[in-house]
Amino acid sequence: MSEDVLLEVRGLQTGYGDLKVVRDVSLTVRRGEITVLLGRNGAGKTTTLRAITGLNRTTGGDVVYRGAALTDAPPHRRVAEGMSYVQEGKRVFHELTIEQNLLLGGYSTKKSKRALADPVQEIYELFPILGEKRALPAASMSGGQQQMLAIGQALMAKPQLLILDEPSQGLAPVIVKEVMERVHALRDTGIGILLVEQAVQDSVAIADQVTVIEMGRTVLSGLASTITVDDLQAAYFGSAA
Ligand SMILES: Nc1ncnc2c1ncn2[C@@H]1O[C@H](COP(=O)(O)OP(=O)(O)OP(=O)(O)O)[C@@H](O)[C@H]1O
Ligand SMILES: [Mg+2]
Repeated sequence: MSEDVLLEVRGLQTGYGDLKVVRDVSLTVRRGEITVLLGRNGAGKTTTLRAITGLNRTTGGDVVYRGAALTDAPPHRRVAEGMSYVQEGKRVFHELTIEQNLLLGGYSTKKSKRALADPVQEIYELFPILGEKRALPAASMSGGQQQMLAIGQALMAKPQLLILDEPSQGLAPVIVKEVMERVHALRDTGIGILLVEQAVQDSVAIADQVTVIEMGRTVLSGLASTITVDDLQAAYFGSAA
C-alpha cells in the first residue's frame, strides 16, 4: 500500500442485524486528498461510514487504516487513532457559545482548557466567522455556520481522517458552495477527508477521488478529474434503468 494511502476499504459488508445493506463497497482516501462518496438515498453511504468508524459491525471485507486492519476495532480506538466523524444531521449545542462548543470537541484529547487555546485559534483561522462570533450562543448562527462549527468541533480532536456525512444537508445552494470551499481548504492542512454528499456537482468539484455506490455496492471509482457527467449519470441511473 502506498505511503499516502490513509484509508483503504475493500469489499466491505455490513448491515443492521440480519439485514445486509452494504454488500461490496471499496474506496480509498489519501492524505491531503478528498474522496467523495456519492449515491442515491438509501444506497448505504451512512451505513458504510458507520462501519468505517466502528459503529456498525463489519461482516465481510476489510477496513485498513494507516496500514493496519481496524476491521474489528471499537469506535473509541479509531477515534484515538485519528478518525473524526461528523454524523449526518449533526447538531451543535445551541445554548453553549461557539467557543464552548469547540472546547467540547477537544475534550477527547484530554488537554486542559489552556492547552486547547492554540487549537481553538487554528479553527478561527480556518473559519473566521466562528472567531467573530466566539462568545455568542451557537443558536445565533445560520445553518451553514453551524455546520462549520460542527466541522470545527471535529477538527479539535486533531484528526488525520475527517469523515463528513452530508454537511450540505438543508443548506441553500450558495451556502453549500461556501461549505465546500471551506472543506476544500481543509485538505491543504494535509488531512484526508471522506465526504458523503448529495450535492453531486459541488462535491465532485472539490474532490480528488470519486466513489459512487448503488444498493450497497461500489459501481464507479476514479479520479475526480477524469470522471464525466455521463459516467456519474450511468452510475446513478444505469442499474435502475
Ligand atoms: N438503523 C437502521 N436499521 C435498519 N435499517 C437501516 C438503519 N439505518 C439505515 N437502514 C437501511 O439501510 C439502507 C441504507 O441506509 P443508509 O442510511 O446507509 O443510506 P444513505 O445512502 O446514507 O441514504 P441518505 O442519502 O438518505 O442518507 C436503507 O435501506 C435504510 O432503510
Ligand atoms: Mg445517509
